[in-house]
Amino acid sequence: MREQSEAKRKAGSKITMGVCYYPEHWDESMWEDDLRRMKEYGISVIRIAEFAWNKFESEEGSYTFDFFDRFLAVAAKWNMNVIMCTPTATPPAWMTTKYPEVLNADKEGHLYRHGMRRHANMNSKMYQHFTKIIVEKLAEHYADNPSIIGWQLDNEINCEMEVYYSESDHLAFRAYLKEKYQTLDKLNQAMGTVFWNQTYTDWDQVALAQKTNTGGTNPHMALEEKRFISETVISYFRLQADILRTYIKDSVFLTTNGLFNNIDYHRLIQEGILDFITYDNYPDFAYEVENPYRDKVLKDRNMTFNITRARSISSYFGIMEQQSGAGGWNFRMQQPMPKPGQMRLWALGAIALGADFVSFFRWRTCTFGTEIYWHGLNDYSNTPNRRLEELATIHEDIKMLQLTAGTKYIAQVGIITDYDNSWDGDIDLWHGPLRRNSVEGIVRALELGHITYDFINLTDETLHSELKKYPILFYPHATILTEARVKILEEYTADGGIIVFGSRSGYKLTNGQCTTLQMPGLLRNLCGVVVSDYTFASPDREMMQIDVNGRKLPALCFHDILRPETAAVLGTFDSDYYKGLPGFTVNYFGKGCAYYYGAGFAEETVAGILEELSIRPWAESYLVAGNDIQITMRKGDKERYLFVLNYGDKEQTIEVKGNYLEIISQKREAGEQKMEAYGVKCYQIME
Ligand code: GLA
Repeated sequence: MREQSEAKRKAGSKITMGVCYYPEHWDESMWEDDLRRMKEYGISVIRIAEFAWNKFESEEGSYTFDFFDRFLAVAAKWNMNVIMCTPTATPPAWMTTKYPEVLNADKEGHLYRHGMRRHANMNSKMYQHFTKIIVEKLAEHYADNPSIIGWQLDNEINCEMEVYYSESDHLAFRAYLKEKYQTLDKLNQAMGTVFWNQTYTDWDQVALAQKTNTGGTNPHMALEEKRFISETVISYFRLQADILRTYIKDSVFLTTNGLFNNIDYHRLIQEGILDFITYDNYPDFAYEVENPYRDKVLKDRNMTFNITRARSISSYFGIMEQQSGAGGWNFRMQQPMPKPGQMRLWALGAIALGADFVSFFRWRTCTFGTEIYWHGLNDYSNTPNRRLEELATIHEDIKMLQLTAGTKYIAQVGIITDYDNSWDGDIDLWHGPLRRNSVEGIVRALELGHITYDFINLTDETLHSELKKYPILFYPHATILTEARVKILEEYTADGGIIVFGSRSGYKLTNGQCTTLQMPGLLRNLCGVVVSDYTFASPDREMMQIDVNGRKLPALCFHDILRPETAAVLGTFDSDYYKGLPGFTVNYFGKGCAYYYGAGFAEETVAGILEELSIRPWAESYLVAGNDIQITMRKGDKERYLFVLNYGDKEQTIEVKGNYLEIISQKREAGEQKMEAYGVKCYQIME
């Protein structure tokens, strides 16, 4: 594990501003002026070359570096730091035409042809061969270039395409299963193939999902498929990283950008493949009408959700692409222009959530191609605009916020997530939507209640110290559990922790099959209950509630009717055939306690539970603010920084309880303070 590599420490000592730049999109005569202006705006890092394979290898085996050499000479002249990319997200046309086996395919085996991006398959031996060569050539040529401070591997891996069904993927999947299960008997057992006569009698019959009559597939195989895709990405990145690390200095970092499905990002860090993660932050997806995941309450503030995920992957992290204009492809996505102040809010908002690097996408809007509507800081015309004016303000603000560089985000609540349950939930309708609704409810309640939170990735190896720092944990629906994970949770609780579970906990094994233990399975001892009956709560019925001391808490989606063993009953269902039966319990366990809420969590449920548990936001000793305001906290050695961000489009009043230095304006503030629409403040509080 490359815990605190030199690269990370170096990167963490300052908050830096960057921009994504595409020298290949512009006339060379513009480079110099572009870099000069970037410098004026305080941009000290640029990311280049992630889609530029042809500029290095315009035909098979013929390598040229002069284009980027010329560009890097200009970068050196302007003292610009560079993040170089491996260009593997976009295979060249000469390759995909001559070697179609490098292409990814759909379930029916049709190849995805040239014309977009991310259409290669990482299991193709041919694609691996070309990848190795191009990465090695780039590493060899650029490793000693002093402008290059780090490398981005590929670009947004698994974006646009998160499943792979080419011939080489089927073969690699078979090999993966052979290694994992050794014999067909064991595979058949783990995949439950005796059901519907799916039994495999020869390894050649084993494949990734194929077209079926209903569109469904064996659920246990589908879960393995996700794990396999994650393994594929991990080994593809390992292949690139191993080559790069033999050439680059230890002070040069490796990262990748974005968060996408079917990848265990935590392993990329833990196994030392990457030094840290960067996230691509496009809050305007919140305003896109067709987007099914937009949060109608939190809107752009929902960027917190993914940035919090990034922080759980590596505590030092950055934003590789920060939205700086309207978004849209020519055939997809229509996003508005950020309103005056929003770009600043989002950039400083990322810092408020712990980022120490914010790089804007992109310097100038492209005049051709699919992304003509994806706006950069500059418009097509390259003339001054309000977004550049805002960039100048952000630059000044970040100078003031340097005090917070390297300080750590601090969270009051931990929300446990794990890849087994989120991947199984993508396949299983009985717990996937339940989990997504509950996480949304928990996040909303914490956000609006000004309670800071972290996501924690639970594995069999999670250390007690990683959990102990949180006074309270939510593990909304711990469907798949292992003995090792339960032991970690029991240790946390016995040591004084408070943990809250929701319905559908503990009934599955890691292969996605159900356990024969009475529910909640391995959690029975910790929670002191058994589930005596359970039912999906049909959405066409009025939402049922659980009555807790006269307070009615919404009981979302799925109900577990509880029979306490050692637990005490805190609440009962208020209707249907289980009216009056226990739905909410607490079990005292060592010095702590485990709560079982026999339903999903709506925002009001979580707010109610927090009140029952007398959990008050840490921020409230320093200031009081309304719902539209976000409050986050970063902690240094002797001080903490309270970021206050107005996500609302109206002026707000906040009440500062002490007399603190607001570091952006360098003024001391106490009592009632006004915050303009999209305004940001940062108070320094000495301890
Ligand atoms: C992603 C990609 C970029 C660009 C932007 C805007 O984040 O990494 O290449 O496509 O989205 O679409």
